[in-house]
Amino acid sequence: MTAAPALDVRVWPDMGAPEDISYAGAWLPPPGVLAGLPRLRVMFSLGAGVDALLRDETLPRNVPLVRVSDADLTQRMSEYVVLQVLWHHRQQRRIDDNQRRKVWDSFATHAAGDLRVGVMGLGVLGSDAAGKLAMMGFAVAGWSRTRKQIAGVQSFAGWDEFDAFLARSDVLVSLLPATAETRGIINYATLRKLARNGPFGAPILINAGRGAQQVEADILRALDDGTLHAATLDVFETEPLPAHSPLWTHPRVVVTPHAAADSDPAAICRYIAGQIARLERCEALQNVVDRQRGY
Ligand code: NAP
Ligand code: GLV
Repeated sequence: MTAAPALDVRVWPDMGAPEDISYAGAWLPPPGVLAGLPRLRVMFSLGAGVDALLRDETLPRNVPLVRVSDADLTQRMSEYVVLQVLWHHRQQRRIDDNQRRKVWDSFATHAAGDLRVGVMGLGVLGSDAAGKLAMMGFAVAGWSRTRKQIAGVQSFAGWDEFDAFLARSDVLVSLLPATAETRGIINYATLRKLARNGPFGAPILINAGRGAQQVEADILRALDDGTLHAATLDVFETEPLPAHSPLWTHPRVVVTPHAAADSDPAAICRYIAGQIARLERCEALQNVVDRQRGY
């Protein structure tokens, strides 16, 4: 392993004796595999989200679970969010359609400051994306469990402030983790509470968090009855998105294949090697998941 040449790295299922394993990195391990490692000191999620790992009910409770937090992944997610906000803001689908039909249509546009973007989840990814959107001149707010201080970003915190956050948002971006509390949070009632007096007259949804947060039948209903102007979805209730889903061909939906922010394998290996080195120097692990909260 280039990131840590001194480590003895084994790849499941050829991992030798289970008692040899001190550290395990996993994304969607078959249930029970990690529970079968008696000397496991740390489990590393190979991505930022840990919902897939936490679904394994046999996951050892007494072994810390560390998630990925990596500058490369964060940069990629911010690129995605900025790209999608700009895509809707600058009406790129209309421009593409016009070009395909050879139509010279120089339509009116609006200023970035006129578009209120609301980012749900102001963690590592959400705070970076929100800060970058604010730097570009969008009117940005964020919603999280606890209050944040991010330059140029208005902070809303907790369920008490959820409706006020929605009411001022023309674009709703989700970078929340999938937890029991966030399951189905993007539903018809939520979409109805978004601002309707923005530049497009109806709001736009961008979900790059997790598909478990969205009720796809509600999103389609909202698109079709005008509650929602448009949507970009990177994550879905079922992945890969089934061929029969109307989202694939909806004229106001952008579908991307859970590719908003890929984890670069070399960066992830460097991150895990760095965490192991910290532990072996008796320093605290970083980004340890709170199993109670689920992220
Ligand atoms: P993080 O640092 O743990 O941030 C999570 C944020 O969500 C925090 O701000 C947290 O609030 C907020 N939050 C959680 N539960 C909440 C609730 N019930 N109410 C309000 N706010 C809540 O996670 P991250 O690294 O930014 O990653 C976020 C998610 O992005 C991941 O879990 C994963 O699902 C997704 N992701 C997707 C891709 C992709 O390619 N599509 C790639 C990577 C990650 P507090 O700060 O107050 O705790
Ligand atoms: C990808 O979805 C991740 O959680 O890193």
